[in-house]
Amino acid sequence: MNILIIGGAGYIGSHVAREFLDQGHQVTVFDNLSSGLRRNLFPEARFIHGDILDYAGLLRAASGKSDAAAGNATGGKTGAPFDALVHLAAAKAAGESMVRPEKYSVNNISGTMNILNVAAETGIRNIVFSSSAAVYGEPQYLPIDEKHPTNPENYYGFTKLEIERFLHWYDKLKGIHFAALRYFNAAGYDVKGRLAGLEQNPANLIPIIMEAAVGIRKEVQVFGDDYDTPDGTCIRDYVHVSDLATGHAAALDYINRTGKSLSINLGSETGSSVLEVLETARKVSGRPIPAKTVGRRPGDPARLTASSGLAHELLGWKAKHSDMETLIKTSWDVYNKQ
Ligand code: WQD
Repeated sequence: MNILIIGGAGYIGSHVAREFLDQGHQVTVFDNLSSGLRRNLFPEARFIHGDILDYAGLLRAASGKSDAAAGNATGGKTGAPFDALVHLAAAKAAGESMVRPEKYSVNNISGTMNILNVAAETGIRNIVFSSSAAVYGEPQYLPIDEKHPTNPENYYGFTKLEIERFLHWYDKLKGIHFAALRYFNAAGYDVKGRLAGLEQNPANLIPIIMEAAVGIRKEVQVFGDDYDTPDGTCIRDYVHVSDLATGHAAALDYINRTGKSLSINLGSETGSSVLEVLETARKVSGRPIPAKTVGRRPGDPARLTASSGLAHELLGWKAKHSDMETLIKTSWDVYNKQ
């Protein structure tokens, strides 16, 4: 298939682009490089430097009218017409979204409206969307399946849920099939070691631990050790980006083949506590990784784990690389080299 990957130079997007290329698809990456990196691009993919908030530029890209002569497109073969687009271009820091909701309204909501309208205008009939487990909010039961009520606790999660609702309407009104993939805690790096772009100012636990391991930061702050869990620290479902990447390919295949849309969890179905993650990181890296317990972070549920039964049943997908050793080892290999 011919696939437009919006946000394809980012941390998850670049792994997704790699997977589609590996499967023999033709890929065009569209990215404004605000958090994406040039080093995450592949020579066999076409790259268009553009912004989803620029409707005209996005329309040119989606209809194959961006070209090298215009100075914003490089590499690969000519783009349009696209069979599908993958949308991963969003701001994603849950904490920040509570103090800067405007940024999330503009980037996530307005940006997605442009993408949906461009898809409708250019006849792109399949969209794979990066949604989030943040749509569920405080868990009412575990593991969380897709029937769990959606009640986001932060504005970021709200934007993801609203976008899922827009997708339903565009499916109904414009015949655009979608797969909204509700990621749990994405982590790790390409299991074949082909990607090494470090996220700048990471807000997530594993890259923060890696920064402490290499000495970019002094220590890891553990946000609370008085939760109702075996070691008192929060439990999360960490899922490897290489697994997320195969999930995107399986989801696109499903919606293209069946013409049905879906919202589906992608998680490892296992929980690890903050202290367990730290312990594995110390073992794998051989570094002491200093840590200090501080107060709880507001809005953190004690436990979050996914049921990925639906992804297994419908997409034949299961996490294969999401054990903590592999998550940490693939991350450490990248951080240790830089
Ligand atoms: C993991 C655990 C922290 C940093 C976030 C988003 C969510 C989704 C996934 C995208 C928690 C603890 C963390 C630190 C710590 N993103 N922690 N010290 O909050 O589970 O989920 O990423 O869709 O929407 O909110 O991930 O990596 O921030 O935290 O102790 O310095 O590590 O309290 O228990 P989170 P995280």
